[in-house]
Amino acid sequence: MDEVMEPYRVRVVEPIRETIRAQRDALLAEADFNLYRIDSEYVRIDLLTDSGTCAISSAQQAAMMNGDESYAGSSSYRRFESAVHEIFGFDHIVPTHQGRAAERLLLECLAGPGAVVPSNTHFETTRANCLALKMEPVDLPTPGFWDFEKPDPFKGNMDCAALERLLSGPEGARAPFVLLTITNNMCGDQPVSMANIREVREIAARHNKPLYLDACRYAQNAWFIQTSEPGYATKSIRSIVREIFSYADGCIFSAKKDALAQIGGFFATRSLDAATCARAHLLLSEGYITYGGMTGRDMEAITVGLMEELDDNYLRYRMETTRYLFNRLQEHSIPVLCPAGGHAVYIDAARMLPHLRLDENPGQALAVDIYATGGIRSTRILLHPMHGVANGRHVDLLRLALPSRVYSTRHLDFVATSISSVASRASSIKGLHVVSAPRFLGGFLARYKRASTSIDPDTRQASEAVLG
Ligand SMILES: Cc1ncc(COP(=O)(O)O)c(C=O)c1O
Repeated sequence: MDEVMEPYRVRVVEPIRETIRAQRDALLAEADFNLYRIDSEYVRIDLLTDSGTCAISSAQQAAMMNGDESYAGSSSYRRFESAVHEIFGFDHIVPTHQGRAAERLLLECLAGPGAVVPSNTHFETTRANCLALKMEPVDLPTPGFWDFEKPDPFKGNMDCAALERLLSGPEGARAPFVLLTITNNMCGDQPVSMANIREVREIAARHNKPLYLDACRYAQNAWFIQTSEPGYATKSIRSIVREIFSYADGCIFSAKKDALAQIGGFFATRSLDAATCARAHLLLSEGYITYGGMTGRDMEAITVGLMEELDDNYLRYRMETTRYLFNRLQEHSIPVLCPAGGHAVYIDAARMLPHLRLDENPGQALAVDIYATGGIRSTRILLHPMHGVANGRHVDLLRLALPSRVYSTRHLDFVATSISSVASRASSIKGLHVVSAPRFLGGFLARYKRASTSIDPDTRQASEAVLG
């Protein structure tokens, strides 16, 4: 089905400001060609991220009026805790201001310097947190992921043979737990099958390692299982979710995705020891154990948002909207990673701009040209540590992430036509060299310049910081 009808009415709107090409070119130069440095008022369609950018429902807004802002023992926390417990099933819930704070708690409490942390693929913040804490993040995506044209349904899976090798080899003793990211954002937001989650659980259990999930898009993952995995078509999303979490010892969660909230997160676990440790760390940097870094209002929005996310009509709309954009781009012969992800569509930028070398950053150059052409903001996704060459060719992806309930299909038609006009003159797009970037999460703050013919040693060093 290719018709998408939004399952909501719009009663509050935000105007989109128009800009002209010359203005956008000037803004890009001022921003050193980094789209994170451009003010949102100059963005026509913002597909930078789905994280915290969703539209809040009237029910969420109403609940937020009941936010209990007490420092300790807030009733908003109790409602939040009970919703999280009901859906995820974990006994101990530690609130945080967003996902990366939960990652930090998990790493600080379950691992230590020198640890090896295996995952299907670490999200970039998890990876950076591992490195900052002197741990080694190891990505083990399924080999099938690398064939971007093949529309296999569960390309976010973990390579179980590689996990078994790692855990039974010399590095196994250094791995404190296994982390599975559902859906797998760095790998085209592809889902993980129930069979894979079960198998990873069995391998981890055989080696006495707990399994934790990076679960911020768990509901979307459940939808993929329901629609594509044999045996799940007649199961409800709720029961699929219950089964997913029954295999896990805990999870980290960014409420900015599948809780339809603008901020928030949590670390949840079955282990009292892990929770006690996390709560002690929480006091140091996030706040008291009944709010983490959140306000009572935030926790109320999450409590309602978690339930709205699990509504069948909503989930169908969400996933079909992404597929709608994917289909429009395919119609324009844009090389998209197949199949469509949950919250985003990924363009194979290296394939679209084959004249650019990897150090000319085709993903960034494409993002910049798409903004210059239509005022559309997207982000380049760096794959670590495999970023670079996979299956004999360069990999560099551009992600178009859809904020939930924000844009109509008419907006997405505009995105597709605009990118199609970029594609028609792709060979004239110039590359970008990195001028400077911080050591961790370099892409957010990197500065670029138009590529010249030669690359000096300082530029190469900065480029390596971004590419990891
Ligand atoms: C898979 C995944 N894990 C973790 C995070 C980090 O969450 P946050 O941005 O709330 O810190 C993100 C954010 O996009 C994500 O996509």
